[in-house]
Amino acid sequence: MSIRTGREFLSIPGPTNVPDPVLNALHQPAIEIYSGRLKDITRTCLEDLKKIFRTAGDTYIYIANGHGAWEAALTNSLSRGDKVLVLESGRFAVGWGQMGQKLGIEMEVLAGDWHRAVDPEKVEERLRADVNKEIKAILVVQVDTASSVVNDIPAIRRAIDNAGHPALFMVDTIASLATMPFEMDEWGVDVAVAGSQKGLMMPPGLSYNAVGPKGKLAHKTADLRTQYWDWTAREAEIHYLKYCGTPPVHMLFAMRTAFDMLFEDGMENIFKRHSILSRAVHAAVEKWSEAGALTFNVQIAGERAPSVTTVNFQDQYNAEKFLDYCDQKLAVVLGIGIGEGEEQSFRIAHMGFVNAPMILGTLSGVEIGLKALNIPHGSGAIEAAIEIIAEAVPAEPGQK
Ligand SMILES: Cc1ncc(COP(=O)(O)O)c(C=O)c1O
Repeated sequence: MSIRTGREFLSIPGPTNVPDPVLNALHQPAIEIYSGRLKDITRTCLEDLKKIFRTAGDTYIYIANGHGAWEAALTNSLSRGDKVLVLESGRFAVGWGQMGQKLGIEMEVLAGDWHRAVDPEKVEERLRADVNKEIKAILVVQVDTASSVVNDIPAIRRAIDNAGHPALFMVDTIASLATMPFEMDEWGVDVAVAGSQKGLMMPPGLSYNAVGPKGKLAHKTADLRTQYWDWTAREAEIHYLKYCGTPPVHMLFAMRTAFDMLFEDGMENIFKRHSILSRAVHAAVEKWSEAGALTFNVQIAGERAPSVTTVNFQDQYNAEKFLDYCDQKLAVVLGIGIGEGEEQSFRIAHMGFVNAPMILGTLSGVEIGLKALNIPHGSGAIEAAIEIIAEAVPAEPGQK
């Protein structure tokens, strides 16, 4: 018996739900790639990326997933033998550093905790100890999609400044951009990376670099530069060279449409929506956790991401069976756990093109799954989520 027929609730932390206008934008014939409309789309999207990253620096579009943007950031700004300091708060910053190791970069991990945000004091302490300034770049994620930790980027910047350290500050915003504030210039971020498939509401396949003056300076002497990723090569006037080959025509149509939708909604509103929906999810998990069988991966409320929530079961419960039930019986597709304790964990995504009914549908699916599998859970979770949303989204005077 399954009651799966109906709209599937995709609640994985990337790829996320793609709005119909963006999907429809893909369904057009290809157009000429050297001039005219496509050139305009590239120009306006590169400008709009600056608005989204909040930078006056330069932006670059790659036909690649997030790993491609990682490699682009590293190869454009570093040299063989350079050392990077990776700030651990889950899976992804370390993955970025490991990619660097294959390129010939030396990686040092500032050990963190799977359940906690990066501690800026530890960053300052480590950088102060680097008297010979051997560390050339600091790599961190704003949101770690595996642990669901959110890091305090301005606080880490202050730690770097307090230590008087000149390393490049490189931030992965793949699971945070367009879900929460990111102020590249104000926060002193030198290189930022993002991907199309999460808050930016596009299919996977495009990724981005944003680069400030210090990143551009490092680029001049970086010896890991390759033809494909090279920032300078992509600044050429010829449109074809901006992509080091054939532009991703259809994905550019999708990007233009997604950006139009984002700006129409307005960034402030988007951040508020993510904040409200994440608080609704957190309120539900809080209630469920009262029975002791499951808990937040991130114990401190202020360190929980606005885009994804990782939930851990006690050892005796198997997350795979729970996820299978939700998917196969209810069409609620939750994220699998990845990394530490993955067999016991699952993730609820609340990023990108999502609204209250979608989140409440997902939460209800989770609760049905908990009941059906006899996993103890506190009651009142859905009511708590509704309460948060209703309070945060009051009726307008004329609607009462
Ligand atoms: C924070 C973060 N960084 C990097 C990546 C890697 O991106 P991709 O899987 O698109 O290569 C992901 C993917 O989920 C991510 O969440």
